[in-house]
Amino acid sequence: MVHLFTDRLLVSIDRIDEQHRMIFETVGKFQDACNEGKSVEEINELFNLLRVYLEENFKQEEEYMLQYVYPDYETHKEKHNIFIRKLHLLDSTIRSNHISITKLVEINEFLSEGFVTHLSEIDSKLGEFLRDKI
Ligand SMILES: [Fe+2]
Repeated sequence: MVHLFTDRLLVSIDRIDEQHRMIFETVGKFQDACNEGKSVEEINELFNLLRVYLEENFKQEEEYMLQYVYPDYETHKEKHNIFIRKLHLLDSTIRSNHISITKLVEINEFLSEGFVTHLSEIDSKLGEFLRDKI
């Protein structure tokens, strides 16, 4: 299921919100490509793009956390690391030629649910902390 990037998910830090919006857009494109039965190459390309956007966003947030001495830096960074490790695992699954529809559905769910949860539970707190500092 594609989640919409609604105001509820804004963290009110322009640069981070813009990155989140791009990530949502790319998750949507990835999901469309899966639903439309596009080739493994195309799906893989979108997945790689998504990884680049996610890694950029995580790096930006971590820079802000360090710069403004965020007290939950370690916990937040660990959530990013877990997400990245999971993406690496999924990458090799997607590259295999035998990826099933069930697995693709599972990946889609992980991407949208995982990211929505991260935004609403973890990034929202960072946004609150940064709001009057940036
Ligand atoms: Fe984050």
